[in-house]
Amino acid sequence: MSSLKFSHIPKEVKLVQTKYRNIVTKLPVPESIPILERVYETESHSMHGQMPIIWDRAEGVQVYDSWGNKWLDFSSTIFVTNTGHGNIKIIEALKKVLEKPLLHTYTFTSPERYEYLNYLISNTPKQFEKAFLLSAGTEATEASLKLMRLNGLKLNKRKGGILCFEGNWHGRTLGAQMMGWNPSQKEWIGYLDPNIYHLPFPYPWREEAIKDPRNFFRNCIDELIKKNNIDPKKDLCGIMMETFQGWGAVFYPKEFVQEVALFAKENDLLLTFDEMQAGFGRTGKLFGYMHYEVEPDLLACGKGVSSSLPLALVLGRKEIMDLPGIGSMSSTHSANPLVCAAGLANFKSLIDDGLIENSESLGKLFHIKLNEIKNRFSNYISTVQGVGLLAAVIFKDQNSNPLPDLCDLISEKCMQSGLLVVHTGRESIKLAPPLVINLEQLIEGCETFEKAIEESIEQIYK
Ligand SMILES: Cc1ncc(COP(=O)(O)O)c(C=O)c1O
Repeated sequence: MSSLKFSHIPKEVKLVQTKYRNIVTKLPVPESIPILERVYETESHSMHGQMPIIWDRAEGVQVYDSWGNKWLDFSSTIFVTNTGHGNIKIIEALKKVLEKPLLHTYTFTSPERYEYLNYLISNTPKQFEKAFLLSAGTEATEASLKLMRLNGLKLNKRKGGILCFEGNWHGRTLGAQMMGWNPSQKEWIGYLDPNIYHLPFPYPWREEAIKDPRNFFRNCIDELIKKNNIDPKKDLCGIMMETFQGWGAVFYPKEFVQEVALFAKENDLLLTFDEMQAGFGRTGKLFGYMHYEVEPDLLACGKGVSSSLPLALVLGRKEIMDLPGIGSMSSTHSANPLVCAAGLANFKSLIDDGLIENSESLGKLFHIKLNEIKNRFSNYISTVQGVGLLAAVIFKDQNSNPLPDLCDLISEKCMQSGLLVVHTGRESIKLAPPLVINLEQLIEGCETFEKAIEESIEQIYK
């Protein structure tokens, strides 16, 4: 991990004035410092550490502050605004609900709730017969955990084990962190769930995983079964997979996932994908799992599901979704009318405006451009991962040492040149523009990114 804290000392930066980017002040903006400092004083420290920009307005692929600066956004606020910032269809839908007015209903239903659920279930694959609406992604992964266990326990009282993967991440609440890999993030819990197991991830740089992905999975699962003395049919109930590994947009080999799905079938396990970052068009398909040609039992979604307000959800078959008794799985803000209206307008925009197709077609060019950049800086970039309008550029030196400090500098230089990228604090920079982006904007963003890499390498190594 890098140790960077973005500086709050305003610095002269080059003037930028293009069609899509304006940088016309020092950065951070001097007038923004008292605001930033007060937020830092009044809000938990754990929310901070990101780039010192105060957003005033955001539309399409552009983000504006109130001092004349304009950025091209390649972050989608970390995979949220898939249908574009300030999508007019979402705003119009929200205005209608506000003007009624109808702000909250919780245990009562509303036309917005009916319309959203109806559209959602009608426009997702047929095995998804019911949804459970929530507010945060971590609630959706927790709910999936509960559903997998309820289903297992129904079959047999000891069938509660969940298989998860090395390097995956599922949110910040207790169950989500138990399913996630990062051991340091679990220290606060004080114990580990003895029924949650982690399998090795088939990274592209793990030779045996790439050579024979099916065998790699079977060897890993056999070892886990032996080591823990379990019978998968009797002791396991589900498998939780992040559709791709978030920090580096790392996908599993297709055959690996197909073998996982086969193993799930053989042993009556539910297969869940955490689609938080992968869902709703990001990878050029409606859902990222579709690249693997498998049929999951449960899907946990969030972020791009609304492109705006707090909405997350779980999708699944009726008999699984109805396992919790009436009232035993609920959330106060779930199915809020505003959030449902946003979710509906977002999903319709994704389909009606051809954004999934845009992600697929422009995604191809995006990856060609990024691979050209990788070839130019091959001593510093080891690989470009991802598909569609999702990419992670992984920075490693020629001895495969990660270069997180280089990533920090590149991210900062991008910001100073009018481009927002996803700063991970690791050896990766993630790029994920809103799916409404056009060719000209995409090329300008890639060129700005390339220049920032060139200048950062020059500054650190030459
Ligand atoms: C893969 C994945 N799962 C779960 C979550 C948790 O979502 P939320 O932050 O909405 O709780 C995230 C958030 O970054 C995520 O990327």
